Amino acid sequence: MYDYLIVGSGLFGSIFAFEARKKGYSCLVVEKRGHVGGNIYTKEVEGIQVHEYGAHIFHTGNKEVWEYIRQFAEFNRYTNSPIAYYKGEIYNMPFNMNTFNKMWGVVTPEQARKKIAEQIEKYGVDEPKNLEEQAISLVGKDIYEKLVKGYTEKQWGRRATELPPEIIRRLPVRMTYDNNYFNDCYQGIPIGGYTQMIERMLDGIEVRLDTDYLEEKEELDNICHKIVYTGPIDAYYDYKYGELEYRSVRFETEVLDEENHQGNAVVNYTEYEVPYTRIIEHKHFEFGTQPKTVVSKEYSAPWKRGDEPYYPVNNERNNLLYEKYASDAAREEKVIFGGRLGKYKYYDMHHIVAEALACARENL
Ligand code: FDA
Repeated sequence: MYDYLIVGSGLFGSIFAFEARKKGYSCLVVEKRGHVGGNIYTKEVEGIQVHEYGAHIFHTGNKEVWEYIRQFAEFNRYTNSPIAYYKGEIYNMPFNMNTFNKMWGVVTPEQARKKIAEQIEKYGVDEPKNLEEQAISLVGKDIYEKLVKGYTEKQWGRRATELPPEIIRRLPVRMTYDNNYFNDCYQGIPIGGYTQMIERMLDGIEVRLDTDYLEEKEELDNICHKIVYTGPIDAYYDYKYGELEYRSVRFETEVLDEENHQGNAVVNYTEYEVPYTRIIEHKHFEFGTQPKTVVSKEYSAPWKRGDEPYYPVNNERNNLLYEKYASDAAREEKVIFGGRLGKYKYYDMHHIVAEALACARENL
């Protein structure tokens, strides 16, 4: 008999397992994929750590989280500074003085502010009825047309005029020449990839790969006292109230026989006519100098059951549906639900660390 059966070896399940083992509990981790790590899994190709399920940059403003995660890996000083490509032009992201200088030739924050205000005055509306009107009312036409429109339309699979204004509540503009995407004070990439970080968490813990808990539920339930379930909550209840919706992403990854393809880890393609949203060049996350390179084109994709669920669609319908599942989950005595799929919520890694630690504190 195990004290804990942990379903899913992603960041949440692995931290919980580590904490449980530390307290002397016996654990079994079951993972339906053929590898540990969930979506932060990295795989070595040509000496480069490839982020198989999308680019993952660790960032946090929480010192406790930062200290905690660094016991499992050494982090480098990677700073996320994505660039945007629009019809042959390159712009810095997030929107900052470098972006405005390139767009309009303005040099001082005062000039940039004036230019944005002019644009909003000229093109903005008082009561935006769709995403296009909303975005233009926030940052003006030039930034919207070149940097927001096509990217957002590809992300949502719909035209901006057909999307609700609420999707974009704010479009932060930064009046400094600072290309660092995140405002958090701690940021980096684990040297040697995320998988080895997870392997350290799971060191000494029994892990069964290629094991779908829901297919072997009865036997697995019988060999443990408690369960931590980090899979999709609606699947746990056999979709009895209906299916929660996601947006998915498709990756096309290739090895290129060149040393440096795009000079940056993340390049966003903001024009609608280019079908992918981003190209990730993985070696730049670790300042790699390998002779070859690996790039992944990212395509935003609709989701159907069986596809990889990436981004929860937290609209009214899905949130109400989730509440129904969550109230069933709250009545479970043996099962704890956690992680992005168990809670149907978009969590960054630092949120997951904090949530998993809170869950461990509460239950262990
Ligand atoms: P995760 O999905 O990783 O783990 C759940 C595990 O459970 C999976 O391994 C799954 O196979 C397994 N499982 C499910 N059902 C099962 C079953 N029935 N039986 C057995 N196993 C089962 N965050 C960040 O901080 N910086 C970033 O740059 C990014 N980038 C990013 C890009 C993209 C494209 C996405 C979608 C997400 C990010 N994130 C991110 C978020 C990050 O991926 C996320 O916070 C963690 O991976 C969540 O960890 P979990 O353990 O909750 O889920």
